[in-house]
Amino acid sequence: MASTAQPSSLCFSLKSSSSFKGSVSKSTFLPSNSIKLGSLSSHLGSGRIGLHVDRVKAAVRMSSTQAESPAAVSSNIKMESSSSGVLPTIVEVDLGNRSYPIYIGSGLLDQPDLLQRHVHGKSVLVVTNTTIAPLYLDKVVDALTRDNPKVKVETVILPDGEQYKNMETLMKVFDKAIESRLDRRTTFVALGGGVIGDMCGFAAAAFLRGVNFIQIPTTVMAQVDSSVGGKTGINHPLGKNLIGAFYQPQCVLIDTDTLSTLPDRELASGLAEVIKYGLIRDAEFFEWQEKNMNTLIARDPAAFAYAIKRSCENKAEVVSLDEKESGLRATLNLGHTFGHAIETGFGYGQWLHGEAVAVGMVMAVDLSRRLGWIDESLVGRVHSILKQAKLPTAPPESMTVEMFKSIMAVDKKVADGVLRLILLKGPLGNCVFTDEYDKEALDETLRAFCKS
Ligand SMILES: NC(=O)c1ccc[n+]([C@@H]2O[C@H](COP(=O)([O-])OP(=O)(O)OC[C@H]3O[C@@H](n4cnc5c(N)ncnc54)[C@H](O)[C@@H]3O)[C@@H](O)[C@H]2O)c1
Ligand SMILES: [Zn+2]
Repeated sequence: MASTAQPSSLCFSLKSSSSFKGSVSKSTFLPSNSIKLGSLSSHLGSGRIGLHVDRVKAAVRMSSTQAESPAAVSSNIKMESSSSGVLPTIVEVDLGNRSYPIYIGSGLLDQPDLLQRHVHGKSVLVVTNTTIAPLYLDKVVDALTRDNPKVKVETVILPDGEQYKNMETLMKVFDKAIESRLDRRTTFVALGGGVIGDMCGFAAAAFLRGVNFIQIPTTVMAQVDSSVGGKTGINHPLGKNLIGAFYQPQCVLIDTDTLSTLPDRELASGLAEVIKYGLIRDAEFFEWQEKNMNTLIARDPAAFAYAIKRSCENKAEVVSLDEKESGLRATLNLGHTFGHAIETGFGYGQWLHGEAVAVGMVMAVDLSRRLGWIDESLVGRVHSILKQAKLPTAPPESMTVEMFKSIMAVDKKVADGVLRLILLKGPLGNCVFTDEYDKEALDETLRAFCKS
């Protein structure tokens, strides 16, 4: 019988495919209190692990245009081309009959076929905001309609900002869809960052009980994280992302050229999630980032294409194994419990999500070290890479131990009154999701990072 119980401690050592040849490497580290890979199935659904591993292999399957190394990626991206432009790199998210491709590349919005093949009906609703519309809306409408007179495109332009990720703004999407008499065969297209992607996805999940939807993410945060995996939703005044649905898109189209207009601070914020993948499950990727962070910050297109691809591969693998967050998917929240406390305590909009997550990762790493679970040297490496990425490594001075404690006590990862955390354990690239840690060590970490 499949167990639905939440284990108190899960160790995740199923690693991403470091060779990029579509295989899953064997676990290299299994600490004594971990649940070994074979028994992971009892927490994710009995007997499903073999199937899952096969799916992971499929999830990292390379398209003919995909490369084996960063250098090769760069040459492919520059050199491979077709009559309609540069061929995209494709990462598959393998979810059975809800599987979908992530297209990654430069100039993909100039390739109408990529979008049009995923539009099934005659109407499309593009959801975007006041910042992105003047930059990319015409391009997207052109891509949807070029040589395709049958498709009618409606647009809805929402106000920009996390404070508008709410029910009132969501209603504007439904108003437009209903006024335009859109039917069940409509496709919703999210053009923007994580806020637009989460809102449009939720609207697509709910409108007429579910219509097709496509993600066109335009921030690093959305390209490496939020557009992949089907988490959609809005905020409630009492908490972030409390109302939503798991709803997968038909495809994700990442045109890396859109990053050229992204402000530096937003770019750095997204890099926090890239660093996260390295720390929780992909040591080789972390080492690549250590060598290439300056190139990323300088917005080198080939380096970015590689970082996005590898991030999407990591996310696709995790989502294929644990779509609805029974355990493994929670590891994508490294640093987020501390980070959410900063976002909530300091006020939304003051710190960007990735900035708060960066500090949260430093705090999680500090706690892991106090517990004796990681090597001292890893602490320095984490500080150093975050600094290179121009991300903060300490919380705002106004954050107190009490603020952290009270906000973390209502975190979604609290079970039976005990806070479960994602902590690093073992060599670089290994983590645990656990409530079995010394609570005094957590207090020490909080005291070390707060003035009062
Ligand atoms: N669904 C998930 O799995 C998931 C994961 C991570 C984050 N999120 C959510 O994502 C949101 C944060 O996403 P975000 O960091 O993309 O923020 P965002 O959507 O607010 O975008 C950041 C800013 O950049 C602007 N912008 C976007 N693309 C641009 C471009 N190409 N050029 C110039 N400006 C551009 C936006 O208008 C906005 O002002 C949060 O609401 C968070 O909860 C969801
Ligand atoms: Zn995040």
